[in-house]
This record gives sequence, structure tokens and C-alpha cells, in this order.
Amino acid sequence: MLRLERVHTFYGPIEALRGIDIHIERGEIVSLIGSNGAGKSTCLMTISGILHPAGGRVVFKGDDLTGASPHAIVRMGISQVPEGRRIFPKLTVFENLEMGAFLRRGNFGELLEYVYRLFPVLKERARQYGGTLSGGEQQMLAIARALMSRPDVLLLDEPSLGLAPIMVSRIFRTIEEINKEGVTVLLVEQNARAALKLSHRGYVIESGAISLHGNSDELLHNEKVRHAYLGE
Ligand SMILES: Nc1ncnc2c1ncn2[C@@H]1O[C@H](COP(=O)(O)OP(=O)(O)O)[C@@H](O)[C@H]1O
Ligand SMILES: [Mg+2]
Repeated sequence: MLRLERVHTFYGPIEALRGIDIHIERGEIVSLIGSNGAGKSTCLMTISGILHPAGGRVVFKGDDLTGASPHAIVRMGISQVPEGRRIFPKLTVFENLEMGAFLRRGNFGELLEYVYRLFPVLKERARQYGGTLSGGEQQMLAIARALMSRPDVLLLDEPSLGLAPIMVSRIFRTIEEINKEGVTVLLVEQNARAALKLSHRGYVIESGAISLHGNSDELLHNEKVRHAYLGE
């Protein structure tokens, strides 16, 4: 469904992605794990069109996305939840969701009902400013906002970052639910154990290159992964 082929992405002279190959099939949850600075966010931003690769291709449902605008990519069905849950703090929860529906591909009322069903707390707080929500609720809002464009593929950048353990498991359960309802997920995480437990397959990125990939079970039992990313 989504394929990165030998993707190279630069920040000026710095080569942050050094020939990345990733493929994601419809219906999967795929994790991309790696330490700080490895290139995870760069990878997601290259898929969502915020960054343009200097080499290689991003192919989605057979179409070459390389060089397309972020808006066009949302319209095609890929939606990103950025790192650090950048919601609009001075807009209400409802207005944040409206912003997410700006490029929507479905019926606004139905989408709203869908995200309120996933996150009932957002319905309760619909009139509250985004900035007054707790960290976990802001992450829910960020995910809900991304879902308002009715994506086929959801890109999640470190959704568990800075959240209390109980909230982390809630967010992860919701990701599973979203996936079961038909959304393909690419999950970027430093929390490798939780991410791999949730996903079907995983990739390990190191210094801008994929160093390992496989089924989540294989990776969870891999000696190198256990040492480097699972703290064993
Ligand atoms: N705006 C930027 N300008 C220059 N270098 C950047 C910028 N953003 C990220 N980088 C560099 O690119 C590399 C990958 O960063 P990033 O994709 O953010 O890593 P991760 O998300 O895995 O922590 C790092 O070496 C980082 O310092
Ligand atoms: Mg990052």
C-alpha cells in the first residue's frame, strides 16, 4: 500500500535518511523504532510531504507521491500525527476537529461521531480550549484530528512520549482499535517494547538507515534489539 524506495532526505548538507526502504501493506500496524536522532520523524515527514526526498520514491497505492504537497497527500489518504501533539491550544476541541476535517474525504457528522466514539472524553470537552486538556487528552485530540480526514494510513510520531503509563496503554489500545476498523498504521516509537507488541512488523532505523526488519515477534527476541532498545 505504501512503499519507500531508496529514499534519501537532507537537511541542507546533512543526510538524515540514507537510502531507506520500507513497505507497508493494507491493514498492518508497522513500527519504526530507533533512538533519538535516528531519522524516525524525518521518515514520517518525508512520507507526508513536509520534506521532499532528494532521491528515491514514495509510492502510495501505485501512485508516486514524491514531491506532492502535504495537502495533496492528506487528500490521497495519508494523515500524520506530529511529534509533540501540535494541537491548537487557543481553539476548542471541536474547532481543532473541524481543522482536521478541512481536507476531509468523508461526511463531517459521521467522522465526528466516529472520533467521539473512540474518545468519549473529547465529546465531553468539545467546548473546552485544547490547551486546557491534559497531555493524554491532547494526544487523543491530535489523533482524532488526524482521523477527521478519514485516512487510509495514519502516521503516528511518538504518541506515548511524556505520557503516564496508564495513558500510554490507553493510547496503544486505541491505536489497535483504529487499526481493526481498517486504518493502516505506521507507528514511530522510542517505546520499542510496547510498539512491537502492538504491531505486526517492525523496522529498526539507525543513523538514517534501516538496520533490521522483521515480524514483531522476531524483533522482540532479537539479541541486538533486546540490548539496544528493550533495555535487557
Ligand atoms: N530541521 C533540521 N535541521 C537540521 N538537522 C535536522 C533537522 N531535523 C532533524 N535533523 C537531524 O536529522 C537527524 C534525524 O532527526 P529526526 O528524524 O528528528 O530523528 P528522530 O525522530 O529519530 O529522533 C538527526 O541527526 C537530527 O539532528
Ligand atoms: Mg522524532
